[in-house]
Amino acid sequence: MSELLLLNGPNLGILGRREPEVYGTDTLADIEAAVAAEVAGRGWKVVSVQRESEGQLIEAVQDAWDSSVGAIVNPGALMIAGWGLRDALAAYPRPFVEVHLSNVWARESFRHESVLAPLASGVIVGLGALGYRLAAQALLAKVPAS
Ligand code: DQA
Repeated sequence: MSELLLLNGPNLGILGRREPEVYGTDTLADIEAAVAAEVAGRGWKVVSVQRESEGQLIEAVQDAWDSSVGAIVNPGALMIAGWGLRDALAAYPRPFVEVHLSNVWARESFRHESVLAPLASGVIVGLGALGYRLAAQALLAKVPAS
């Protein structure tokens, strides 16, 4: 069975309780279920990895090289200077979509640049948990049916 990597960086395991006025009330489990529902029809299994540290996220990307068809990545604050994660995704041989729950452009200026974005197939910001579903739909459209 093909796998879809759902990768979430630091502070995203506490979604639902973390600044709900910024990030919404959906938990990571809610998001995992929504993404799984989106891709079930294609027979893709969602492999969800959330880690607080960059090294563990890099390992997850490397582990997914052969098994995954693509990835949805919310790097959290690693968007700003996660150069190691950036390099891991540069080497990752599958498409990925970057997602941010909040509209980073409407927030502090340090959130206005992502080191991952130039590598992504697309970037979705500001649509809350819906952004993950849309990212899943984008990958369904982008990855050829096998
Ligand atoms: C975030 C935006 C980042 O700037 C922030 O550091 C996060 C969450 C988002 O999903 O809106 O941790 O990636």
